[in-house]
Amino acid sequence: MLDGKTKIGIDRIGVYVPDRALPLTDLAAARAVPAEKLLHGLGVHHMAVAPVYEDSVTLAANAAVRALAMAGDCGRTDPGEIGLLIVATESAVDHAKPVSIFVHELLGLAASCRAYEIKHACYGGTAALMTATEWIASGVARGRKALVVASDIAKYPPHSAGEPTQGAGAVAMVVAESPGLLALDVGASGVHAANVYDFWRPLDRSQALVDGKYSLDCYLAALAGAFAEYRRRALAELVALGDGELLTDHLAAILYHTPFPRMAWKAHRALVEDDWRTRADRAARFAAEGEAIARRSYAEKVEPSLWAAQAVGNTYTASLYLCLAALLERGADRLVGRRLGMFSYGSGSCAEFYSGVVAPGAQHLAREIGLAAMLERRRNVTVAEYERHHATASLRAEPAPERPPRDFAGPFFYRGTDDDRRAYAHV
Ligand code: COA
Repeated sequence: MLDGKTKIGIDRIGVYVPDRALPLTDLAAARAVPAEKLLHGLGVHHMAVAPVYEDSVTLAANAAVRALAMAGDCGRTDPGEIGLLIVATESAVDHAKPVSIFVHELLGLAASCRAYEIKHACYGGTAALMTATEWIASGVARGRKALVVASDIAKYPPHSAGEPTQGAGAVAMVVAESPGLLALDVGASGVHAANVYDFWRPLDRSQALVDGKYSLDCYLAALAGAFAEYRRRALAELVALGDGELLTDHLAAILYHTPFPRMAWKAHRALVEDDWRTRADRAARFAAEGEAIARRSYAEKVEPSLWAAQAVGNTYTASLYLCLAALLERGADRLVGRRLGMFSYGSGSCAEFYSGVVAPGAQHLAREIGLAAMLERRRNVTVAEYERHHATASLRAEPAPERPPRDFAGPFFYRGTDDDRRAYAHV
């Protein structure tokens, strides 16, 4: 075991989003729904579209090269330092062969690096992050680092209620001792697990089934359970509340799993109410002014993390970490030394509320994330093009897909399937 003082957490972060996007005003027109419903009711203005030459392997590898390349003052991460690779996805490309082993090869990781894929709906990325952190805390990593990648293509049937809440992308995180970005409060987290059928994808289907409204209720129930447990642990181990203070006063930002940005508002509204109701002296004021209080808190603590999710849509396992990358890219300067709350929810369900403190110097590393620039260079597709990508990018043996365009940033792309074997290449 490492001594309790050694900090462990997210050392580097790399994000990758496909270079195609569908404006949701166009989708609204094609589906004859008011654009306002998607733009304001759900809070998304574009959704990322994975072209046929991208899948969960290429998204993961393309995010991971960016995480390894992040240099700061200490230099890049040497692939040889990675002793554990976990890829979290619910967009697997095979029932047996994991996404992780393709990523392992594309990145040139050592043969001695343990590599595997995990799944628990959108919670998988957090499960992987916790496993990697605890692997380091246990001492068996012996100075090596872990690479955690959350990679997904959110896919619902065209014309379904879930259609505007699709998206695609990946976030890769190097997890290490003395992390450069976010030191996790190891062990001080709250978990809530319950068997519910809110979102699932039977083995023979390439698109998810969802009981949409019920999934929102399950999310909020899991948030209440996980936050109650986090409160118990945080007050015992991390935070001493001053006179009249609330636990959320000690969280400079709160990030949520964001299937669509409006969900983050619903979640934060519920969490603020929970927090205020823990103090008899504040409960009466919340009853009178709750909406305004929650809105102010949301504007300060939540909105700054949502700009990328508004432009990308749902990225399932990567969604919470896309919000983290977005927050750090534009806000790390003011957050150094401050604690962030993080809520992860995976349908089915397992959820976790945890926290971490932004590391000194994180603002220098965060300049390298490059998420805004990546979104800037995307090209819009038409609804017809989106429908073609949606129909073609199935999970089974495809015809050899088209090659990426000349300006493809990748660098990895899917070449097609030959004799039931998937092949990948570097541009
Ligand atoms: N202008 C502005 N807002 C409008 C609107 C208009 N013309 N019409 C509707 N809205 C609002 C609704 O009031 C609602 O907001 P509210 O929930 O804050 O009241 C929002 O837009 C969505 O409308 P709704 O009728 O609930 O949409 P829907 O039946 O099409 O379903 C989901 C929405 C999220 C349930 C659906 O997209 C879905 O199933 N998504 C996948 C599941 C998911 O992401 N679950 C999350 C938990 S993991």
